[in-house]
Amino acid sequence: MKDKRPLNLITVNTKYSLYEEAVQNAPGEIETLQHISKIERGKHSKVLREDFCGTGLLACEWAKQGTAFSSLGVDLDEVPLNYGMIHHFEKLSIKEKKQVQMLKGNVLEVPYSTADMVVALNFSYFIFKTRDLMKQYFKKVYDGLPAGSLFVIDLFGGVEAQSVCEEETEHKDFIYYWDCQKFDPVTQESFYAIHFRPKGRKKLVNVFTYDWRLWTMPELRDLLQEVGFRRVTPYWEGDDDEGGGNGVFSPYKNEVENCLSWVAYLAALK
Ligand SMILES: C[S@@+](CC[C@H](N)C(=O)[O-])C[C@H]1O[C@@H](n2cnc3c(N)ncnc32)[C@H](O)[C@@H]1O
Repeated sequence: MKDKRPLNLITVNTKYSLYEEAVQNAPGEIETLQHISKIERGKHSKVLREDFCGTGLLACEWAKQGTAFSSLGVDLDEVPLNYGMIHHFEKLSIKEKKQVQMLKGNVLEVPYSTADMVVALNFSYFIFKTRDLMKQYFKKVYDGLPAGSLFVIDLFGGVEAQSVCEEETEHKDFIYYWDCQKFDPVTQESFYAIHFRPKGRKKLVNVFTYDWRLWTMPELRDLLQEVGFRRVTPYWEGDDDEGGGNGVFSPYKNEVENCLSWVAYLAALK
């Protein structure tokens, strides 16, 4: 039957559930973060703060590691936070609920409690386009952390990341599109959008849009060092021998393959 619904009629529930399925893998992310923590801090981290937490999927998953693990998710927008309260927080056990907090606030302003590890993932901090603003954010994270704690961010790059093009990935019930709509090589300002096409429906366009600056690894490393982090280490993904990544990230050892497109982490130790 032909789908006659308007092109972008999409509920909040559909929007965030499609996003999480296409973009996030909380257990895998925790495995990577704890792997980095073990290398950088010599032990796993117990207390997590997730900046730009969106629906708080990761913050909620964090508590499932055991009673010693607690988390705080911070996001500006109550819409994803409310989605996360219903779909993630409410599904935790009574004990786990006591380990998780979700806070509505601006990461540049909220007063922070202590953490073993602060993360800003899926490139959310690219929203800060000037050096001053990015430095302000990094300094705020640094000032709020005790010595020996870790700040982990992810970033992406490569020639393909700077080209106007649309990439599609097939999932069981939908197609996910990552669309670079604009890239300015002078300012590195870039405009990306996420579209979805659920099976049997029309393409839902611009479901999420991002007006970012595509920061480079050396710029971010310099800034993290400038605000005081004593060691800043890039983590680069291993090869699956079929032209892709194997999901295992290791500390940079002076030489990596110059891939057309890559995702990496920066781990900054206070
Ligand atoms: C790309 S989503 C990231 C969601 C999730 N953390 C992930 O890894 O997929 C970016 C989130 O950052 C939030 N955000 C943007 N600016 C913010 C700020 N200054 N303080 C807190 N949250 C902010 C938005 O509301 C949005 O939910």
